[in-house]
Amino acid sequence: MQKWVMSGLFFVACALALVLIFTLPGKDQVAQENKTQMPEVTLNAEQAEAVIKANCISCHGDQLEGLAGPNLQHIGATLSTEQLYKIISKGKGSMMPGFKDKLQDEEIANVALWLAEKK
Ligand code: HEC
Repeated sequence: MQKWVMSGLFFVACALALVLIFTLPGKDQVAQENKTQMPEVTLNAEQAEAVIKANCISCHGDQLEGLAGPNLQHIGATLSTEQLYKIISKGKGSMMPGFKDKLQDEEIANVALWLAEKK
């Protein structure tokens, strides 16, 4: 009799564990929901420089020394990669345009990574 109770309990515990495994959101999912949805990219400096040349230097200067827009040569010292990603995709104030319709998310993330290293 006791054997039956034990294996019954074991079965219930296993079933519960299975249900939990499939219903609880994975750790990765939770982490992503709490963060800005910046895609994960590995830095490609060449691509970043090309995107910046094509889109940013008209306002930020060809050495990023600043023109109509502020100097970005040490922007990594004040802004994190995620903050940069947000500003570049959504824009800032009335003068800095957002680029999320013009550039791929991955391109923006790559530029953000590149700028974050400018300290
Ligand atoms: C039309 C002109 C213009 C273009 C093009 C432009 N920016 Fe800007 N950007 C600005 C201006 C103006 C500001 C300042 C906005 C403010 O602080 O209100 C700014 C601010 C920024 C900031 C925040 C700086 C800070 O100190 O907070 C970042 C980062 C930035 N731009 C990156 C970029 C990147 C990267 C590109 C190209 C993908 C780009 N910008 C293209 C005009 C421009």
